[in-house]
Amino acid sequence: MLKIQSLSALVFLLPLVRAAQPIYAQCGGTGYSGDTTCVSGAVCTKLNEFYSQCLPGSGAPTTTVSTPTVPSTTPVTTPTVTQPGTTTVPTSTGVPTAVSGNPYTGYEIYLSPYYAKEVDDAAAQISDASLKARALKVKDIPTFVWFDVIAKTGDLGTYLADADRKGKAEGKKYIVQIVVYDLPDRDCAAYASNGEFAIANGGEANYRRYVDQLVAEVRKYPDVRVIAVIEPDSLANMVTNMDVAKCRGAEKAYKEGVVYALQKLSAVGVYSYIDAGHAGWLGWNANLTPAARLYADIYKSAGSSPFIKGLATNVANYNALSASSPDPVTQGNQNTDELKYINAISPVLRQNGWNAQFIVDQGRSGRQNIRNEWGEWCNVRGAGFGMRPTLSTGSSLIDAIVWVKPGGEADGTSNTSAPRYDTHCGVASAHKPAPEAGTWFQEYFVALVQNASPTL
Ligand code: BGC
Repeated sequence: MLKIQSLSALVFLLPLVRAAQPIYAQCGGTGYSGDTTCVSGAVCTKLNEFYSQCLPGSGAPTTTVSTPTVPSTTPVTTPTVTQPGTTTVPTSTGVPTAVSGNPYTGYEIYLSPYYAKEVDDAAAQISDASLKARALKVKDIPTFVWFDVIAKTGDLGTYLADADRKGKAEGKKYIVQIVVYDLPDRDCAAYASNGEFAIANGGEANYRRYVDQLVAEVRKYPDVRVIAVIEPDSLANMVTNMDVAKCRGAEKAYKEGVVYALQKLSAVGVYSYIDAGHAGWLGWNANLTPAARLYADIYKSAGSSPFIKGLATNVANYNALSASSPDPVTQGNQNTDELKYINAISPVLRQNGWNAQFIVDQGRSGRQNIRNEWGEWCNVRGAGFGMRPTLSTGSSLIDAIVWVKPGGEADGTSNTSAPRYDTHCGVASAHKPAPEAGTWFQEYFVALVQNASPTL
């Protein structure tokens, strides 16, 4: 009897043996109740409060929660942006002066070490040699770096210091491309990218602190140019989604927040492009004029600074710049691609006092006609990496074709019980199963490589 009691006590003392989570699986986060350990070769890494993921890394199986590390050197050479041209005009007062032309001209784009590591790790999981080689090419293509939580603002200093050092060593000038993305009550008409700050809980002041922290980093590196995309989806929601209570409640915070960001960033010489949705959102006739008025008002409220260059379109979306034939889902909208949308909104912006320029995200636009409805935005199945970043845009209104969304980072989780589950991530055309927004989605990345057009 005694022997049996001792044995059962021993059983209670032993930890429960559970299988460690495979690479890229979830291992923590709000509402998660599964295993928090990762297989050997992966580290459980906290990506945000909703999601920790087993990311490739050295060490024994572990439950350590840490921020992903950034390699100290940039692992690849930076592609040259095509047009030669003007350079920054430094002033003796230290107050930056904006160039009147294209802010990309004459600069090279710094490659995000964070994304390069994601791609390296992803390629290491691919056994097919030719596919692996194509995947690795993605490291050489510049993407924007998203500052989606205040905890990441310090990383901007790391990247700027690296770009500054490289520029001086190589006799070149670098641009660091960033996305400013942390408004309170973020993603008001959807769930997938709900953010860390709540208006009801000091979110507006927190947002100003977030902007100030980015600005403090920029100020330290006057020789590196920063180009920013400002707050994806936020103002577009103010045009079309005011029937959503969270969007109505966020109107003041969004508008004041964006104006604050624009003013502060302009004061340290950051060139900004405000996110303006895409052709299938604000490109409808009924939306064009209200949208143009709103953007022009925001530009003027922020002081009409020449650093506020214009609008960014198609961010994290899948539309073509110029479709060879209209995608059937565009039916009813004459602005069937981004170029048509830009050509349509530009004159209305001018009428409202803003000669705005544009940049267009083509990172995941390689394949068209892959959606059942134009409004589908979440991990669209069949997408491929798209047109490479270039200044040869074919339009004097478009400063650059860029890759804003880092391809391979998810748009939103398909887990229906997750707090940030959005039904768009569960539709038939969405690639599933998908991890949380912003976290690595290996299968999706592989598909983007396979479907890339032009090919990699
Ligand atoms: C996510 C962000 C992420 C970004 C880039 C957004 O959908 O909400 O967390 O940084 O995508 O992948």
